[in-house]
Amino acid sequence: MKQHSEYICQQCGYKSASFYGKCPQCGEWNSLVETSVSTETQGQRDIGTKYIESLVKLAEVKSQKANRMSTGFGEFDRVLGGGVVPGEIVLISGDPGIGKSTLLLQAAMAVAKGTTGSKGTTSTTGMSKKTRDTRDTLTTRDTSVLYVTGEESAQQVKIRADRLVSRPSGNQDIRTSGKKKPENLITRLPDNLFILPITSVEGIVAASEKIAPALLIIDSIQTLTSERLSGSAGSVGQVRECAGILQRHAKQTHTPIFVVGHVTKEGNIAGPKVLEHVVDAVLNLEGDGMHAYRLLRSVKNRFGSTFEVGVFEMTDGGMLEVLNPSEIFLAQRIAKRPGSAICATIAGGRPLICEVQALSTSTIFGVPTRRVTGLDFSRMQIVIAALSRAASLSLSSLDVYLNVAGGLKIDEPAADLAAALAIASAVQGVAIAEEACAFGEVGLLGELRPVSYAKNRIEEAKRIGFGDFITPERFKTLEEAVSYALHGE
Ligand code: TYD
Ligand code: MG
Repeated sequence: MKQHSEYICQQCGYKSASFYGKCPQCGEWNSLVETSVSTETQGQRDIGTKYIESLVKLAEVKSQKANRMSTGFGEFDRVLGGGVVPGEIVLISGDPGIGKSTLLLQAAMAVAKGTTGSKGTTSTTGMSKKTRDTRDTLTTRDTSVLYVTGEESAQQVKIRADRLVSRPSGNQDIRTSGKKKPENLITRLPDNLFILPITSVEGIVAASEKIAPALLIIDSIQTLTSERLSGSAGSVGQVRECAGILQRHAKQTHTPIFVVGHVTKEGNIAGPKVLEHVVDAVLNLEGDGMHAYRLLRSVKNRFGSTFEVGVFEMTDGGMLEVLNPSEIFLAQRIAKRPGSAICATIAGGRPLICEVQALSTSTIFGVPTRRVTGLDFSRMQIVIAALSRAASLSLSSLDVYLNVAGGLKIDEPAADLAAALAIASAVQGVAIAEEACAFGEVGLLGELRPVSYAKNRIEEAKRIGFGDFITPERFKTLEEAVSYALHGE
């Protein structure tokens, strides 16, 4: 089959054989991008017949348990569904500077060091020796890793790697028991970690075929170009073509590939949706620049659940996994302070206990201020309104500030009740009982509505020592819940 290309408008999808500066259909300037297409050279039937042998009965397809490889991070493996599957393409997306390159370089070092596969049967996520042997005989690859960097020079990556190599003095001090020191600290750069500072996808495939790495990392997809297209790096045509080439390479050679993709200001993975369809898993690295915590959330996963979240802390020695996030998010809490309410939320599929804080002061200028961080602003407006109406709390001359401690973001209605209690507690200057934990949705009429996973939330809260649950199952209205939380009746 012969390759030829056509120009496609990135705005409206208009197709043309020749280039236009302005799209004839929608009038957008510079929106036509060259995209390769295959032309039919034989009749449809001739092409079709050779695929007939692919027709099989589903019942006769052999079930194959994927041999997963560990990334060296238990949290990362869990989000992947128990490690990386051979031939899988994983897109790691996130804002610039959030720590994608750091996380992947650490994983690269761990895999190259050969420590990840050797956890043996003690680990549920690490590959056992037996499966590793099977895989090795299948693909004859060792533990070499190829890290392609299109964004930074080899020197820049080296500087980061040197930073991640732990110093014998124990630079990665563990302040809280909840942060896990990597089991096998890397004390020197492994010999089989290769770095390739190029952007040509053809070059990358050639290098990968030569080394046959256990893991291929591409940082980032937006910098790649296929030399067969003239469009610039990051354009839809280029991203699609490069992703397609990488996908074929991954499936043919069973090489797992981690691909970094940046998120645009609008929150889309730049170099558009096409990428999300090509890859097997999309993991989002989230967090805000002001806090050290990062959540690795699975958005799509062909080989695992999409409800997993991994928690990491960015330290000066790289990313550390956080094993008991609830305790970490509560570490700085001052108990018995008015304005603090404990909430059991669900982050991904996992319950997480956190603190919702409220502060109220009298309004100086006519209109009261409402400021919300970490919670949904419009939901909080409803909560505030319901609180003033249903629980007869006068808030019209008070400024209200709401915050979730630790820089966590909660986007579920289950946080409503804790937010309402925190505000009520702040306004009345009465602290909520130390062992109380609240969750539930607040309706417009001040009624409390049950939320999902109540059992899991309660279990997690109990584990940390909370024993008094303020829930919609126990209280029908916001008024009752507030009265109980503040006055115990
Ligand atoms: P980086 O991994 O380059 O982010 P991304 O690839 O997502 O753009 O991380 C950038 C930030 O992380 C940078 O501001 C420095 C910080 N950092 C640490 O705090 N500790 C470290 O060990 C490293 C390597 C980086
Ligand atoms: Mg980077």
